[in-house]
Amino acid sequence: MKHKDIIDKLSLEQKAAFCSGKDFWHLYSAENAGLPEIMVTDGPHGLRKQNKEREDKSVKGVLDGSFPATCFPAAATTSCSWDTDMIYEMGEALGEECLKEKVSVLLGPGINIKRSPLCGRNFEYFSEDPFLTGEMGVNFINGVQSKGVGTSLKHFAANNQENRRMTIDSIVDERALREIYLTGFERCVKDGKPWTVMNAYNRLNGTYCSENEWLLSDVLRKEWGYYGVVVTDWGAENDIVLGLKAGQNLEMPSSGGLNPAKIVEAVKNKSLREEVLNERVDEVVDLILKSKESFKEHSFDIDKHHALARKIAANSVVLLKNKDEILPLSNNQTVAVIGHMAKEPRYQGAGSSLINPTKLDNALDELSNLGFTCCFAQGYDKAVDIPNQDMIDGAVRLANTADVAVVFIGLTEVYESEGFDRKHINLPPAHNALVKAVAQANKNTVVVLSGGAAVTMPWLEDVRGVVHGFLGGQAGGGAIADVLSGKVNPSGKLTETYPLKLEDNPSYEYFPGNQLTVEYRESIYVGYRYYDKALKSVLFPFGYGLSYTTFEYSDIVLDKTEMDDTDTLTVKFTIKNTGNVDGAEVAQVYVGSPSSTIFRPEKELKAFKKVFLKAGEEKEVSVTLSKRAFAYYNVNIHDWHVETGEYTVLVGASSRDILLSASVKINSTVTADIPDYSETAPAYYSGIITNLPDRQFTALLGRELPLSERDPSLPIDINCTLEMAAATKRGEKINKLISTIIKRIGGGGVNEEMMKASAVQIPIRCFVTMSLGVFSWPMAQALIDILNGKSLVKATGVFIKNLPATLKKLPELMKSL
Ligand code: BGC
Repeated sequence: MKHKDIIDKLSLEQKAAFCSGKDFWHLYSAENAGLPEIMVTDGPHGLRKQNKEREDKSVKGVLDGSFPATCFPAAATTSCSWDTDMIYEMGEALGEECLKEKVSVLLGPGINIKRSPLCGRNFEYFSEDPFLTGEMGVNFINGVQSKGVGTSLKHFAANNQENRRMTIDSIVDERALREIYLTGFERCVKDGKPWTVMNAYNRLNGTYCSENEWLLSDVLRKEWGYYGVVVTDWGAENDIVLGLKAGQNLEMPSSGGLNPAKIVEAVKNKSLREEVLNERVDEVVDLILKSKESFKEHSFDIDKHHALARKIAANSVVLLKNKDEILPLSNNQTVAVIGHMAKEPRYQGAGSSLINPTKLDNALDELSNLGFTCCFAQGYDKAVDIPNQDMIDGAVRLANTADVAVVFIGLTEVYESEGFDRKHINLPPAHNALVKAVAQANKNTVVVLSGGAAVTMPWLEDVRGVVHGFLGGQAGGGAIADVLSGKVNPSGKLTETYPLKLEDNPSYEYFPGNQLTVEYRESIYVGYRYYDKALKSVLFPFGYGLSYTTFEYSDIVLDKTEMDDTDTLTVKFTIKNTGNVDGAEVAQVYVGSPSSTIFRPEKELKAFKKVFLKAGEEKEVSVTLSKRAFAYYNVNIHDWHVETGEYTVLVGASSRDILLSASVKINSTVTADIPDYSETAPAYYSGIITNLPDRQFTALLGRELPLSERDPSLPIDINCTLEMAAATKRGEKINKLISTIIKRIGGGGVNEEMMKASAVQIPIRCFVTMSLGVFSWPMAQALIDILNGKSLVKATGVFIKNLPATLKKLPELMKSL
């Protein structure tokens, strides 16, 4: 313990109180021990500090009313920069904004892996690749924390979908967990030392992440050496005593004293050792003491941060197509700017990361500011999916008159958000129809895409250029103008594969799972690891992106041809800018293991470098690979293991554009049994993991599959959701009633979608804890009784009896939000 002197000053009740929030965003404080109140808030790509006064009358939903802050590009965007220095710089800027708002911990980065393109929250995550994710995450953390502000590494772990996120049990085999889902967290924890780690809502292999001792104690604390606060995702607490024992410190938000009371009781009745509580509180105390910087007066330069947001967005843009060098545009061309999004950009995702921006650029104005002669047609209404023929006709007329037609389309707000997943990967039909029509009218058509996740592009062959701006943040419009005009040479590369169709995705059959579980049957074959192994064609591969210049790779040299797995390998190669303009190239280094006996992907990203080169310039690039670059996770020894054999080092401009290769022989210094599934789970050796029989997955998992559907004859309990209760007669009625109410009050759009999902997919226990007990335990029990078909009269009696107390507590709840 670091702070025994302080812990000794705290009463049992105070210590218990430190394990829960004071309200939605603040931690408990104790004057007698010199511990001030600190604030934590969302994150990740800007600050969402709720403005209680809600002075801004334009505020629409609960999540919208925050103080203005710079809305930087979302992680789906920034990762495409592959620029670790720039992510660090963005972290520094975020840290400064936190200091200005006296926020001690920014709730991010979110580093979950993009297992399926459907996950509604993919825009908030970096990549389908764990190595890249880790690099981005660690630089984000180090940038923010360099300012004396903490981060919250989230959502730990295997939280790869929004559907039923508060109850679902992610069934993942140990190897996939280690190689795919935990690798990024490991890198961030070991090298970023985030002040807090946020455990995910879901269960992992049967146990809630908030009380998963293997995850929080064995892996995070003991193996990775984490000393810091594990905070629950908001409402992820199940049993706080189990949570503390497992290694969790802090329940957020406050449960209105309900859960701290359980801690006190557990210590008193000796079911929780006070030493365990002391250790957990010690880490909270440490967090509070570290937060000194955020109590001082600070300011930041709004314009400077806006300019930084523009630089980051521009450097993250991915040029997907540039036939006949249609781009960059030249100033003497007349440009038909088409599409609602050119004027009203889609620049950020929805949910807890929603920022109230300090400013907002749009591409139309920014192109004009750069000296282009633009005319505009709306083409579609962002709020409507169905094609509007009049608007399309107008756009076509305009396109006919211009030298170039630039069509701005993308996923609208309602398509992707925290709280629910996408159902398909198509763009709005109105947008696709518009591009088709415009491309027919003007052969010089360029599409500018917005959105935080993979989409299909049925018009790809019809257009000359495609520029992907993702969710570019508040300065995204300017960034697009910079790229279209050639002021910035695009250098972003995709950090997730764009499949030809949704059905091609390896998790397609296994996402989002059933009522109780989601089985990660594809195991380690996520993203390009699968597409490469199964020899699937894709629309755009992982790592892909064009430039206005060209690069040549040459002269790969390894400093060894044979080595032990304890040695490091230095890889050197040369890149030359062979075009006429300056530009940056993201060189990717993959490792393949052709002689391995355990099944492995064809290749895996193990290093990358973003290199800036003036026209004609060449540079030598050097990266160092160590054991982990060659290892797989051996479940027999529960450790990383390198098989003796030949390994190939592959250097390329994308995962499907390998330009250099060299081999090295590695000798293992560890004797270990290599797991062999060639008889029990042969599909994993071929990579054809579709229609995978249960027994092949269980062979990998090492146990039988848990029930995937709830037994409807079981009574409803406190951890059930209303959706689960729909199997009962009364539950069905309640679900219908809720959906009617939400339709009435939801106001449509993304807020309504989120409300729908969360209302019926939240466990009943959260009605109590997240309402600070306003909806009391007796009321929750009465609801459960109703759902279980018990006496309606009695249950109604409980509600009536509790009503006065509820009304009394309501203002407290409102104050805490
Ligand atoms: C999200 C977290 C977020 C928290 C606080 C949760 O619903 O999953 O990412 O930080 O809310 O807003």
